[in-house]
Amino acid sequence: MNRVQRFLDHFAEHCQVYFPAIEENRRRNEATFTGLAETLLEWAENYLGEGWPEVLADGYKFFLMDVNRSQIEYERRGHYLHKSYDQVYQSVYNDPQCMNRYHWGVFVSTFAWEHHIQIYEFYRDRFLPCLPAGEGGLLDLGCGSGVWSLLTTHTLPGWTAEGIDISEKSIELSSRMAQACGMNGRIRFSVGDALTYRSPSPLNAGISCFLMEHLEAPDRLLHTLAANLSPRGHAFVTAALTAAEVDHISEFRRESEVVRMAEDAGFRVVALFSAAPPSHPESHRFLPRSLALVLQKRKNEIW
Ligand SMILES: C[S@@+](CC[C@H](N)C(=O)[O-])C[C@H]1O[C@@H](n2cnc3c(N)ncnc32)[C@H](O)[C@@H]1O
Repeated sequence: MNRVQRFLDHFAEHCQVYFPAIEENRRRNEATFTGLAETLLEWAENYLGEGWPEVLADGYKFFLMDVNRSQIEYERRGHYLHKSYDQVYQSVYNDPQCMNRYHWGVFVSTFAWEHHIQIYEFYRDRFLPCLPAGEGGLLDLGCGSGVWSLLTTHTLPGWTAEGIDISEKSIELSSRMAQACGMNGRIRFSVGDALTYRSPSPLNAGISCFLMEHLEAPDRLLHTLAANLSPRGHAFVTAALTAAEVDHISEFRRESEVVRMAEDAGFRVVALFSAAPPSHPESHRFLPRSLALVLQKRKNEIW
């Protein structure tokens, strides 16, 4: 049985509440879903071995439980639960048990969520063609499982990547997965703070996916990203809008808030895509969205 079918069968049996949305997503986006899931599941199997479906299902259930509960509480409260990064750091990123499950939950959401399949298509169709086909260096801030570094270097064999994450557990897991996939010569994952990181030399491109909303000062992330890139280097940045999770601190309500921050940090916005889950109750005030931007570091005030 192929990996995608094994994933679907396992989730149908062990993630019954969340499976119908995954199956709908697969049905509506068959080619992209199957292609992306097959790649990611192969990487997961290389590292986790035979028991990979159990680990992914356990992580996904843990993550989705928080996503759903947090969004319901957010509807009632009108704002995100946490305002302090230090509090979230202690209870999430610095807690190895929590991070072990969170890590795989976020990894699965890359293809299991329909609006994230659309974000991936935007990355593939609008960001990757901006990167030169020869050699290049990529910086991935808040890399988590390293999925975006792996996808980029997988597509561009002449490229290397460095990924930075504040969580020791995530760096341990992502480094081992890169090693198990034979990518450790081209990708280096290290523990560090994305707000202060400085690469020894400027990089050709940058990625920071789903980190902005986790920070008290997300504008600092974009300034750091710009500072690490060569002039006219491209970046792919995503952010969650009105989407609560236990570790989301900065609440963006409009796409333009993120656009303005990117422009103020020295970027030109090349392309923008905002995606939401296909079925969200009409009566809800907040629509959880994922915003993706393709950016280019400006050389002057204009471009
Ligand atoms: C939602 S996950 C996104 C992971 C990955 N970029 C992806 O899209 O799958 C957010 C990640 O940001 C990391 N993080 C949080 N604060 C950070 C900081 N100040 N510097 C670096 N990483 C941070 C967390 O540990 C977590 O792995």
